[in-house]
Amino acid sequence: MHAAAVTFDQLSVRFAGRQREVVALDNVSLAVPCGTVFGFLGPNGAGKTTAIHVLLGFQQASSGRATLFDCDVRAAIARQRIGYLPEHPDAYRFLSGREMLLFAGKLCGLSGAILAQRIQHVLQEVDLSDAANRRIATYSRGMRQRICLAQALLHEPDLLILDEPTGGLDPIGRLLIRRIITDWRQRGKTVFFSSHELSEVELVCDQVCILARGRIVAQGAPHQLAGPGERLEQFFMRVVEATAAQEGR
Ligand SMILES: Nc1ncnc2c1ncn2[C@@H]1O[C@H](COP(=O)(O)OP(=O)(O)OP(=O)(O)O)[C@@H](O)[C@H]1O
Ligand SMILES: [Mg+2]
Repeated sequence: MHAAAVTFDQLSVRFAGRQREVVALDNVSLAVPCGTVFGFLGPNGAGKTTAIHVLLGFQQASSGRATLFDCDVRAAIARQRIGYLPEHPDAYRFLSGREMLLFAGKLCGLSGAILAQRIQHVLQEVDLSDAANRRIATYSRGMRQRICLAQALLHEPDLLILDEPTGGLDPIGRLLIRRIITDWRQRGKTVFFSSHELSEVELVCDQVCILARGRIVAQGAPHQLAGPGERLEQFFMRVVEATAAQEGR
């Protein structure tokens, strides 16, 4: 039995709206075993980013609990082993990519030759070596996404939390993300990521969970969830449409 890198235990998050309360997460329970790749799926507004924000300590749970490596997410120590790519990544635009990584590495306690070596390595991993000395202000959107991903990888965290890592990336960039995720898994590390790219998800994930309107509507290995001859995308449509129909939409 693996230890869990991430758990949600009956996690709910509610936001006070102008007219009525928004239930972003409704009693969500799941466990992500260490050393696995876990895909967090669901239509726009399903609650994926909200759940990730709870893990990062940006958002408090209304009820229930979340843990990282068996440590309550509210404890600062919980986040030391994490690399995070936000949904809308941005960086200090007046710095070059290399300077940004130097700054981030120092914040993580890296320095000297080890930091220089790691920077070289992650720049190659995200294919930005040639643009490393340019200001981030001159980067395209996909390049900013890549430099932020490089930052998430820099300190070789045990858990990568990626909120739509392929958003804004070209097909080569998507392949690069797939390689990074499988490489991370081969090294015994854990990846928890949200995505709408279901054809990528079914290639790399050990487990997926589908959220709809804040609730888990399916969970399991991609090939076990989809019926014979069915792609994950078709299964996703089926289960999300069935949930919407049940709720009278
Ligand atoms: N700060 C907030 N205040 C009020 N409602 C919010 C807030 N943050 C999120 N929500 C609501 O919570 C729900 C879940 O949003 P969330 O961003 O978690 O969805 P998501 O699954 O990440 O969607 P997407 O695929 O579009 O990124 C939505 O209905 C959203 O409007
Ligand atoms: Mg989101």
